[in-house]
Amino acid sequence: MALAIPGVTFVFKLLFKVDSPKLKRKVLGFTFDNPVGLAAGFDKDANYVQELSHLGFGFIEIGTLTPKPQPGNPKPRLFRLKGDQALLNRMGFNNGGVQDAVERLKKLNPNVIIGGNIGKNKVTPNEDAAHDYLIAFEALFNVVDYFVVNVSSPNTPNLRALQDKEPLKKLLEQLQLANNNKKKPKPILLKIAPDLTTEQIDDIVEIVKSTKLAGVVATNTTISRGELEQTKEQALDLGNGGVSGAPLTQHATQIIKTLRTKLGSEPVIIGVGGIMSPQDAQNKLEAGADLVQIFTGFIYNGPSFIKNINKHLIKVG
Ligand SMILES: Cc1cc2nc3c(=O)[nH]c(=O)nc-3n(C[C@H](O)[C@H](O)[C@H](O)COP(=O)(O)O)c2cc1C
Repeated sequence: MALAIPGVTFVFKLLFKVDSPKLKRKVLGFTFDNPVGLAAGFDKDANYVQELSHLGFGFIEIGTLTPKPQPGNPKPRLFRLKGDQALLNRMGFNNGGVQDAVERLKKLNPNVIIGGNIGKNKVTPNEDAAHDYLIAFEALFNVVDYFVVNVSSPNTPNLRALQDKEPLKKLLEQLQLANNNKKKPKPILLKIAPDLTTEQIDDIVEIVKSTKLAGVVATNTTISRGELEQTKEQALDLGNGGVSGAPLTQHATQIIKTLRTKLGSEPVIIGVGGIMSPQDAQNKLEAGADLVQIFTGFIYNGPSFIKNINKHLIKVG
């Protein structure tokens, strides 16, 4: 709302933007002004891309978008676990459908790199999932810069089974086929859960390499309640959902480290999960991430968090 007032955009830029050659990153064929992005799920329907771009993000990931609109799970479905600096959500891919978002994005000229995070509708069985992902991919192709295939949300029943070797390989091969039929293919990344076994991670690494995927977004929210120290009982009472924020910090960083070792230097890693301080962002980059994303840390720290991370990254070089 504030940004609708003339002149306020300028003030926001002064307040929140940090420009420095030290922050620029050449990744995925683009030059990112800085490596700090907004994670998927905050602006699922691309309602606020222009406004959010004024807060200093280097990139914004919209979605998860599904072919058809769907309401998501009944409310309440999003909770703060303040004692653990965490959130618990079971939103369930509430979104207005991919076409609606496309129409909105067509009208914008945002000065920021946009990722399109795609998923399947709840009613679509896993056997037909590829069809849903392909619809969302085709619809968004001309209005986003890169894609993220989300098979890792805990809030769509059975979705994470698509992370298994055979269905995952099939899905990604079909998407890459559609992508390679384009004049200028776009980078496709895979978003993974933090709750995978070592074998599953090995399978994913193999598939990323064999399908020549651009990279991996690690990680989504966790179904584990193990790291909750002060709010474990409360979380158990609240029921199903994915936990994000501080309880995820170390584990997500460890997964990034493992992925970097196993993937080699080329595939891009976007590190996300529990970045609650500028140091956490630095740790993810040092673990091997090329870029990072924030969600829960943005909620708890407010809009100046992006600037604080970027200033810290300039300081530590
Ligand atoms: C309320 C909420 C909704 C989310 N929705 C999505 C989504 O639609 N698609 C997706 O890939 N990730 C979604 N996420 C996961 C985030 O993008 C991110 O991977 C996760 O929260 C870990 O990062 P964080 O600890 O910085 O929050 C959501 C997270 C939250 C808290």
